[in-house]
Amino acid sequence: MTPEPAPTVRQLLAFYLEAGVDCALTDEPVNRLSDADAAPAIRTAAAGESAQARPAPTPSATTFAKTLVKTLATPPAPRREIAPAPEAAIGSAREAARTAPTLQALRVLLENFDGCALKFTATRLVFADGNPQARVMFVGEAPGRDEDIAGLPFVGRSGKLLDRMIAAIGLDRTSAYIANVIPWRPPGNRTPTPQETQICLPFIQRQIELVNPDVLVTLGNPSTQTLLATREGIMRTRGKWFDYNTGTRTIRAMATFHPAYLLRSPSYKRLSWQDLRSIAKALEPHSRPLKNS
Ligand code: URA
Repeated sequence: MTPEPAPTVRQLLAFYLEAGVDCALTDEPVNRLSDADAAPAIRTAAAGESAQARPAPTPSATTFAKTLVKTLATPPAPRREIAPAPEAAIGSAREAARTAPTLQALRVLLENFDGCALKFTATRLVFADGNPQARVMFVGEAPGRDEDIAGLPFVGRSGKLLDRMIAAIGLDRTSAYIANVIPWRPPGNRTPTPQETQICLPFIQRQIELVNPDVLVTLGNPSTQTLLATREGIMRTRGKWFDYNTGTRTIRAMATFHPAYLLRSPSYKRLSWQDLRSIAKALEPHSRPLKNS
């Protein structure tokens, strides 16, 4: 059989881009499977720059190609776990999250939590935005590239649409609270794995419990299915009221379309405005006592 010709650098880059590898984190390649210090080194570099929003890594095609070529030239090494096995990580996430007495403590816990491998590829933690005293909390799936750079949820194109959705019920980021089920960007915006979701779940559950909103809004299928424990798709779940039990209180919850989906399918905006009207009605002063009263 004639051997396949070696791929060109351009073909390799295209292959990696397709697989979600779309940015270089360091100038030198890091073999995470063999180098015991690799992950902490990356964390330290990111932490050192976290005081100010740093610009997105903007690797030139040559730097990226060099990194790839060097990485590919590194001989395979014995496998080594960076993050603990999922079961152990889920256990320690549960244990850690329930001990957080405040949102600030929860954020610090997450910043120091090494159980989710997404932390090591993300630029920074994307914890939340908005007002923790808000009566309504929106929860999306996971940060994308813009959020990973800014360290804030929903700041890209879909974030702009979410702002308009929030404005449609007379609120803004000073009177609403926004977070994601997963607080780190999955590489290349890939879908989080079920294990990653389960590891992050105790943290968002604790965040909801601490914010204690009057209305919880899940944005799109993944956050709806994860938080409202349903297997039904968004076409069936949207616009209906669910009970979300924090363990100490039951919160009214509604699913609606994810703004990224509405950008792709604008004809569903009409249904989404209907959902927002129901949410606005539930937030009217006479429909429920004010939060924490
Ligand atoms: N999509 C999400 O689900 N969350 C974000 O923060 C941004 C886009």
